Amino acid sequence: MSDFKDQLQAMFVPEEQIPAEHRIEEIHQREYLVNGEMRQWSGEVSEVYSPVMIPQADGNYKRKLIGTYPVCTETEAMEAMDAALHAYDNGRGEWPTMSVADRIKCMDKFVYKMIEQRTLIVKLIMWEIGKSYADSIKEFDRTVEYINATIDGLKDIDRQSSRFEMAEGLVAQIRRSPLGVVLCMGPFNYPLNETFTTLIPALIMGNTILFKPPKHGTLLHYPLLQAFKDAFPKGVVNTVYGRGAVVTPGLMATGKINVLAFIGSSKVANDLKKRHPKVNRLRAVLSLDAKNAAIVTKHADLKLAVSECILGALSFNGQRCTAIKMIFVHKKVADEFLKLLSAAVDAMKPGLPWEKDVKLTPLPEPHKPDYLKECIDDAIANGAKVMNEHGGVTAESFVFPAVVYPVNEKMKLYREEQFGPVIPVVPFEDIEEPIKYQIDSPHGMQVSIFSNDAKEISSLIDPFVNLVSRVNINSQCQRGPDVFPFTGRKDSAEGTLSVHDALRSFSIRSLVATKMNDTNKQLINEIVNDNDSNFLSTKYIL
Ligand code: G3H
Repeated sequence: MSDFKDQLQAMFVPEEQIPAEHRIEEIHQREYLVNGEMRQWSGEVSEVYSPVMIPQADGNYKRKLIGTYPVCTETEAMEAMDAALHAYDNGRGEWPTMSVADRIKCMDKFVYKMIEQRTLIVKLIMWEIGKSYADSIKEFDRTVEYINATIDGLKDIDRQSSRFEMAEGLVAQIRRSPLGVVLCMGPFNYPLNETFTTLIPALIMGNTILFKPPKHGTLLHYPLLQAFKDAFPKGVVNTVYGRGAVVTPGLMATGKINVLAFIGSSKVANDLKKRHPKVNRLRAVLSLDAKNAAIVTKHADLKLAVSECILGALSFNGQRCTAIKMIFVHKKVADEFLKLLSAAVDAMKPGLPWEKDVKLTPLPEPHKPDYLKECIDDAIANGAKVMNEHGGVTAESFVFPAVVYPVNEKMKLYREEQFGPVIPVVPFEDIEEPIKYQIDSPHGMQVSIFSNDAKEISSLIDPFVNLVSRVNINSQCQRGPDVFPFTGRKDSAEGTLSVHDALRSFSIRSLVATKMNDTNKQLINEIVNDNDSNFLSTKYIL
């Protein structure tokens, strides 16, 4: 055991042993974007420490400092708010009234400039949150694909709206219009991708944005501020730096935020929503807590179940909202499943993010190793065991995944969203047991069912589709492909995200209607022929 700990500890090497192309220069951000200006900051800053630790001369290990960023106050947050309100100008601003084709041109320019920053942003994702190099590249490229798909999605919507509809003697043109000022806050685990899955659709629909980067994964947005500045009219994208608890409640309390786009905990989301003085004016697009379960029945292909459960439970060390955070296994196959699962977990490659084929990396949240230990200790105290040889072995910011069995309702791991490399496994005899678990759970995002018996699967599909929002058969839980709807029930989400759904979530239908008589027909024809309105228009984007 201690040999293995030493082996893990040895992954943290002196800086000169890190491959030159992956070393990082400190970045000290002293500016932020508000009202089309990069404003200088000379106040308090926050230090950004990587989960990658460096051995020190005294024999201790220290998280590597990778830079600093401004800790702005409520004053700067309110300035950002004013800029966003001004740019929206009650829907009369340049951006909300701009034609869809012109908004798309701005977005194309942004993507072009974003791609120029790919190398630096990928490096920052690795260093700030410890995501592997391969997954950091994937996160960047998936985000670019998402933006391009969003542009195509908007073109589709616009084409469908470029016509008149007639009913009951009236003629109307129906389009989707922006909602106003959107406060966007993303999570640390997909700091670029998930933030942009709300920010980009909100932006392209004509809203103006207050963008607060996540606590871990802040610096990686710095290289994009200039791109936002260059690509969009002033005041359309404004940044809010500072401690969330200090800067966001006041913004909500103004009552001037029209949409809260937040990916994080339901507790914070509820607290923010309650600050808004007129909740009826606030639309919320939220992706929140989840504890997705896998159910391995006695008819499952165990090898497949193990490989999918590993992907589901341990991709990015289990730090995904969609991760499998609980496994129910039928008693008859439990021993075999646990043997295969434990061996597969122990065979996973730990290391620093840039190491070839690395699967497990250090954790960005400083308190996480202690919290995971607390969960494992609590499970052991309540009768469970760590089943895999290396489970729970910790070296500084790195925790080797633990398969914990048998988990029961007395344990933290039964209820809490561990958001890290611990796999709780619960034995069951009657299929009603996992169904009951889902009914009693505060979460309702996804489930994975492992079975090769069609009758058994179908008997589970019907109850589960009404308890969660996606039932995965013989495959892990996941958000993608991004064209599929991503949502959840209970405390797991509000609203739906997908390329198409997000465009709808950040807009409202508006229509122009009139009675069909000769005068009105002539008026409409004149407006359309003279291109006088961006809304009332039959122009077709190809
Ligand atoms: O953290 C939650 C993400 O939306 C998960 O996305 O399932 O594609 O990893 P993913």
